[in-house]
Amino acid sequence: MNKNILIAGSTGAIGSEFIRFYSDDPNVEKIVSLSRKKIEPTHNKIQSIELDYSNEQSFENLNKISQLESLSTIIIATGILHTDQIKPEKSIDEINSKVLEKVFQVNVYGPILLVKKLLPLIKKSQGVKVVFLTARVGSISDNGLGGWYSYRSSKCALNMMIKNLSIELQRANKENIVIGIHPGTVRSTLSEPFLKYVKHGIFSPRESVELMTQVINKISQKDSGKCFDFSGKVIDP
Ligand SMILES: NC(=O)c1ccc[n+]([C@@H]2O[C@H](COP(=O)([O-])OP(=O)(O)OC[C@H]3O[C@@H](n4cnc5c(N)ncnc54)[C@H](OP(=O)(O)O)[C@@H]3O)[C@@H](O)[C@H]2O)c1
Repeated sequence: MNKNILIAGSTGAIGSEFIRFYSDDPNVEKIVSLSRKKIEPTHNKIQSIELDYSNEQSFENLNKISQLESLSTIIIATGILHTDQIKPEKSIDEINSKVLEKVFQVNVYGPILLVKKLLPLIKKSQGVKVVFLTARVGSISDNGLGGWYSYRSSKCALNMMIKNLSIELQRANKENIVIGIHPGTVRSTLSEPFLKYVKHGIFSPRESVELMTQVINKISQKDSGKCFDFSGKVIDP
């Protein structure tokens, strides 16, 4: 069956790899690519649309999603851990409300408001897989180290949004599935400053996307609301 896929964060390391992966998939008919700056489509099945979570007006651009009758998969691969102005907090002394607000805006408010805007298209579809890129550090039970207050708690809040949305979307259509997925530690702008401290394996974006797409292909209704890692293992909340 031909699939239409929407990918948010398509200029990021992981998002751009999802775009490449699905561009090469003959079963994918259309790809809607969302990014802060428009991309030059490398394939005629790609429609590029600008979306910046920090600019409310830019959500109106989603009205430009043209001629789509349905979506099969939504992948939200946006997120921040640090910026020029933001460093993940090592201790409570470093917490500041502007940083919390910015990290929550990009990691929580933006993704859920995006799905809200896509609801009419989701409702027209025959069952959609909504996949949010989350992080293992958002798990409360996995937190043995502390630190990274804004990022950790934003991903934890995102995981609750995922659970809530899974309940509501499955009521509307039992074929809808909503999950979070942890990509592993992947070489990217987001992870780069911290890779020197990583003691386990580091994935290339391609390796991570190949693993995650296997998980996305396998998930079924019973999995909705859960968070998985790249190998398909459930991450406890
Ligand atoms: N890399 C890892 O090791 C790792 C581990 C665990 C979880 N993750 C999660 O995986 C996801 C993708 O991360 P990545 O490693 O691919 O990082 P990345 O290369 O830095 O990509 C992040 C993406 O988020 C977009 N973004 C940032 N601010 C935005 C805003 N205001 N509005 C809309 N989009 C915005 C970026 O857009 P621009 O290109 O315009 O900046 C970029 O496309 C994130 O959710 C991250 O938390 C990554």
